[in-house]
Amino acid sequence: MAILVTGGAGYIGSHTCVELLNAGYDIVVVDNLSNSSAESLLRVTELTGKEFAFYPISLNNRPDMEGIFRNHRIEAVIHLAGLKAVGESVSVPLRYYHNNISGSIVLCEIMQEYGVKKIVFSSSATVYGTSEHVPITENAPLGATNAYGRTKLMIEEIMRDLHVSDSTWSIALLRYFNPIGAHESGRLGEDPNGIPNNLMPYITQVAVGGLKELQVYGDDYATTDGTGVRDYIHVVDLAQGHLKALEKVMETTGVEAYNLGTGRGYSVLEMVQTFERVTGRSVPYKIASRRPGDIGVCYSDPTKAERELGWIAHKGIDEMCLDSWRWQTSNPRGYVVENEMLANI
Ligand code: UFG
Repeated sequence: MAILVTGGAGYIGSHTCVELLNAGYDIVVVDNLSNSSAESLLRVTELTGKEFAFYPISLNNRPDMEGIFRNHRIEAVIHLAGLKAVGESVSVPLRYYHNNISGSIVLCEIMQEYGVKKIVFSSSATVYGTSEHVPITENAPLGATNAYGRTKLMIEEIMRDLHVSDSTWSIALLRYFNPIGAHESGRLGEDPNGIPNNLMPYITQVAVGGLKELQVYGDDYATTDGTGVRDYIHVVDLAQGHLKALEKVMETTGVEAYNLGTGRGYSVLEMVQTFERVTGRSVPYKIASRRPGDIGVCYSDPTKAERELGWIAHKGIDEMCLDSWRWQTSNPRGYVVENEMLANI
């Protein structure tokens, strides 16, 4: 029996594969590599000493997806595949709806056909929209503000409907807060395309000299220093949350949402200062205007995950910054493999 991991070559997926393999699960990975590299999967094997099947296909490719379920005894699915750039989703919404929603529907249809009814879904705190009442519990009002967020919200709703139609489904909706950090080996990490949108990869690229300075988007929010506050969570803690959710869906039926966060918020300037302190590097920045669509404060109440999954985040902000930095300095060009780099010298 194996666990199918969709999007397994991505940032969160690759860390989740390591945790699954280290815990003794067999895995099968599907990833169309649209925003990831097969090199991450080679490194998963390097770190765990374990091989696994990999299918470089899209979830919308029904015949090939069915082939996976025919060829492997899939017991449960961890579904992380999806496009995730907020800004891009506003410019090309149909691509987001087709890829994220149609892909999830095809996946669920095939699961149903093969009697596989256990799924852990990669949702996001983005489903809480502009809710500024913190800490955010799973009961907070939902509402997305962009196409990306709406795909996450709609998939959650599709999965709830699926459970209404057939109560033997077992579904965990994991609402991630802000994942940062990297595997402590420096071999796995976040490899954004082009100029990063997110804070931590931007900070590490400024610190390494690839970008001139950080723009801090707004210093007039109602926070201690006026800059935006978020609940940053180490990607390895997040990956372990998937294992806990998997154990839960294996032993129950139902549909439940869980916040995966630390329950603590840090401002942009606190992140910059912490990064500078633990790495000894300076991060020049300038205050810019607010980024459209941003909210001031967002952090989780993660107690439901602790109570029902027995999961809690262990890694603190210093470790998150240090691990992000180790990844950046050991892989200045991300997953470009060494011989490709040599060929370009
Ligand atoms: N920020 C800057 N400068 C930057 C980048 C970010 O000041 O160059 C600030 C933002 O304004 C915000 C904080 O840093 O206050 C965090 O920003 P990120 O872009 O790293 O993260 P967001 O909270 O905006 O977005 C993240 C995910 C989204 C998800 C959203 C809500 O990237 O996919 O959380 O869950 F939709």
